[in-house]
Amino acid sequence: MASDTTGVATAVDDAIRSRKTVRAFRPDPVPRACLVEILDMARMAPSTFNTQPWRAYVLVGEAKRALTEAILRAHEAGSEPSFSPFPQPQPPDCAARQDEFGRLYYNALGIERSDMAARARRTARNFAFFDAPVGLIFTIDSTLTRHSWLDCGLFLQNLMLAAHVRGIATCPQVVFVRYQNVIAANLRLGSDESVVCGMSLGYAEEEAAVNRLAMPREPLENFTRWLGFDA
Ligand SMILES: Cc1cc2nc3c(=O)[nH]c(=O)nc-3n(C[C@H](O)[C@H](O)[C@H](O)COP(=O)(O)O)c2cc1C
Repeated sequence: MASDTTGVATAVDDAIRSRKTVRAFRPDPVPRACLVEILDMARMAPSTFNTQPWRAYVLVGEAKRALTEAILRAHEAGSEPSFSPFPQPQPPDCAARQDEFGRLYYNALGIERSDMAARARRTARNFAFFDAPVGLIFTIDSTLTRHSWLDCGLFLQNLMLAAHVRGIATCPQVVFVRYQNVIAANLRLGSDESVVCGMSLGYAEEEAAVNRLAMPREPLENFTRWLGFDA
């Protein structure tokens, strides 16, 4: 192993390794000063030509409740077109990993994969931000391209790690994208703003089985090619 004389590498590695998505939260509020600190760290993310394309809406209390209600109304009415973050067909290796995710996830929740009603009820929990005290919605200028969406991903990872090392858990949530129109009306988004994703943020309900999920990762050799090393 490379030397880590100051322990910084170990601390960073531990933070990266131990962060995981949390989907059951305690109701305890997160101090605003703490949210400011976390977002202050998120903004240090690198971005294409330093364009910093991210925008964040931070919702608590009545503002969060109103958005949840509006989305749940639309969700129950089925008023918005269905949405998938993936193309059809999906690349087979990604499809296999998504399938494995579903198996582990619904198993942890005690939901049969064939029980579509129970799965739909579970999906709806996303829109209540899994009862987290803080809900976030991230947007980007609609005219920007995949490079800038990548920048947003780096911002989100910074945010999740900065939260995690402060004892605060997160769940990034693509499901909010389906409710772009509802979110735009509720948060008065500009006509140029696209929802990137949402996020639940707060203190983890440690006892919840769903929070004990450990999603597997592929070993290095499955996604790397090493060139020129043996010369
Ligand atoms: C951009 C993005 C969107 C996601 N959307 C959702 C979502 O809508 N609902 C959800 O429960 N989890 C969502 N997740 C969480 C992933 O399922 C999770 O990151 C993955 O299974 C790996 O697990 P881990 O974060 O615990 O390591 C999302 C993650 C990312 C990065």
